[in-house]
Amino acid sequence: MKKIIALVLALAMVLCFAGCGAKQVATVEEGKLIMATNAYFQPYEYYDGDKIVGIDAEIAAAIAEKLGLELVIEDMAFDSIITAVSEGSVDFGLAGMTITEDRLKDVDFSISYATGVQSIIVPEGSKITNVDDLYADEAAYKVGVQLGTTGDVYATDDFGDDLVTSFTTGNEAVNALLGGDVDCVIIDNEPAKAFVANNKGLKILDTSYADEDYAACIKKGNDDLREAVDNAIEELIEDGTIDTIVSKYIK
Ligand code: ARG
Repeated sequence: MKKIIALVLALAMVLCFAGCGAKQVATVEEGKLIMATNAYFQPYEYYDGDKIVGIDAEIAAAIAEKLGLELVIEDMAFDSIITAVSEGSVDFGLAGMTITEDRLKDVDFSISYATGVQSIIVPEGSKITNVDDLYADEAAYKVGVQLGTTGDVYATDDFGDDLVTSFTTGNEAVNALLGGDVDCVIIDNEPAKAFVANNKGLKILDTSYADEDYAACIKKGNDDLREAVDNAIEELIEDGTIDTIVSKYIK
């Protein structure tokens, strides 16, 4: 009898450890963690051949591993990510996405895993030499941004619809700048650096436009997943994994 009790107890403990350790959370597709992103945002997410790589892709893979799930990345327009997350067709969004009050009405955010800065790209020799030039009395500079980003929202607020053109990707905004269709592009600092490195004749102004925090967005009220993602990010910050990933891409 004692032996049987001991056995049952041992079994119960094993089961509990297995169950508690795996931190299983319900996801859109069993066994998978589906991430929405917009993969034209080097170094956070971009294509290397047909594979999506970058800081967010690697952090997401590390989160998925902790949750015992297989990561699936879905590339879409940046301004579709919040809709996909809130409709529940994907589990979360990881896209260098800034936490904003406005977005918090539609989705929840994890803890922040990185910070960003909105920068201004101009052609070398541009009359725009610092951010204040954009606000000068007679100034009517045309601004290019990526649709639905904070750069888009802030610039439209500050300079109005007429002066701001929103492009589906940052690449298109930069092409418009190269073609002279806009006078500057407002976009996150790290992608801005990549655009300037990959195209001749552009530079980033020293003064930045806004500071922000990046986080994963998760369906409103999905506290199980949000807490699991928060815990994973916290562990990945504490054990240095996120630093290692970031310094691989940002020198
Ligand atoms: N940080 C900005 C925002 O949240 C831009 C993010 C753009 N991300 C992307 N993967 N294209 O609005």
